[in-house]
Formats: sequence, structure tokens, C-alpha cells
Amino acid sequence: MKLLIVTGSISKQSNNKRIARWFDRNYGEAVEFTHFPLETIPMYNMDIEHDPPAEIVEMRRLFLETDGIILITPEYNHSVPGVLKNLIDWASRSKRPIKDKLVFMLGGSTGRFGTIRAQMHLTQILASPGVEAILFPRQLQIGRVHEKFSPDGECLDATTEKYLKRAMDEFMVALS
Ligand SMILES: Cc1cc2nc3c(=O)[nH]c(=O)nc-3n(C[C@H](O)[C@H](O)[C@H](O)COP(=O)(O)O)c2cc1C
Repeated sequence: MKLLIVTGSISKQSNNKRIARWFDRNYGEAVEFTHFPLETIPMYNMDIEHDPPAEIVEMRRLFLETDGIILITPEYNHSVPGVLKNLIDWASRSKRPIKDKLVFMLGGSTGRFGTIRAQMHLTQILASPGVEAILFPRQLQIGRVHEKFSPDGECLDATTEKYLKRAMDEFMVALS
């Protein structure tokens, strides 16, 4: 099974990238993961949409070829980070490579609410007519994320890990 992990942060110190590494640690033998290189994506521009840079051609290929998407969003100012929204805007055009893909959405914030507001916005965005992704019904909000994951992706909180494993196992069943 091939899964694309899209983490909505381009920071090397990203707390959400810690969550992304958890998937490698725990499912790396069962799943072929690709971590989407979000930092390579230019700003969306309709003028270059039909003759896009190589990074956009590659983005479309990665989305079209994956069996499913794990979408890990931070929350910036009660919403989806601009870099992630920009990627989705690109992917909503031309070949529309997210259309009909099953998306497992989760995210971590350093505050208590664990990206719930960003995920509510993301739910609307993923359902928009250009995107039309299919949202996996189990979603996870991880508050105090920096205390729950080590930088190399070890989960330090048993309850969080239990819910993560349950959701990921069910996601794999849904895809099989
Ligand atoms: C510009 C900015 C806005 C933020 N807004 C929120 C917010 O609305 N809600 C929240 O829970 N955390 C917010 N935070 C804190 C983030 O949860 C925290 O920085 C988190 O580590 C971001 O994810 P990342 O490290 O993967 O980029 C904000 C952080 C930044 C830099």
C-alpha cells in the first residue's frame, strides 16, 4: 500500500512533522510512505497553471499514484496554514489529483484544542467542488503536541498512541 503523508508545515522543527515520523516508526514496514515536499510548491498562479513548473507536475503525479492521503495539519490563527491551502488550491485545478482520494486528517497544536478549528475549515475545503476528496470519518486532534511526541516521532502519551493506532488500522482497512 502506498500512502502520501502531507504535513502542513515547512518548518524543520515542525511539531506536526513529529507526528509524521510516528507513522514511519510504526507502519513503515507495512506501508510505503512518501512524505510530500511541501516546501517545493510555488504560490498558485492561474497564469502558469497549464504549463506549470516541474514541482507541480511531480505533485500531480504523487497525488494521482497514491492509494490514500494522511493529511497532518497545524493550526495557524484558527485556520489552515497558508502553505497547505496553497497546495490544495493547486491540486483543485487541471487534473484535480485529490478528487476521490480517501484522506485521513489529523493535526497537532501546542495549545489545548489540537487544531479542531483548522480541521473544521479543512473539512469544508476538502469538500469543495474543485477538490472533492473523501474524508475518512475518524479524525484526530492532538493538543500539547510538543509534549506528546519526541522530535524523532516517538509517541510519549499512551492514550494518544492508542487512538492513533486505532485510526490508522481502520484507515488501512478502509483502503484495502
Ligand atoms: C502563525 C501562528 C499562528 C498560530 N495559531 C495557532 C492557533 O490558532 N491555534 C493553536 O492551537 N495554535 C496556534 N499556533 C501554535 C501552533 O499550534 C504551534 O506553533 C505548532 O507547533 C504549529 O505546528 P508546526 O510546528 O507543525 O508548524 C500558531 C503558531 C503560529 C506560528
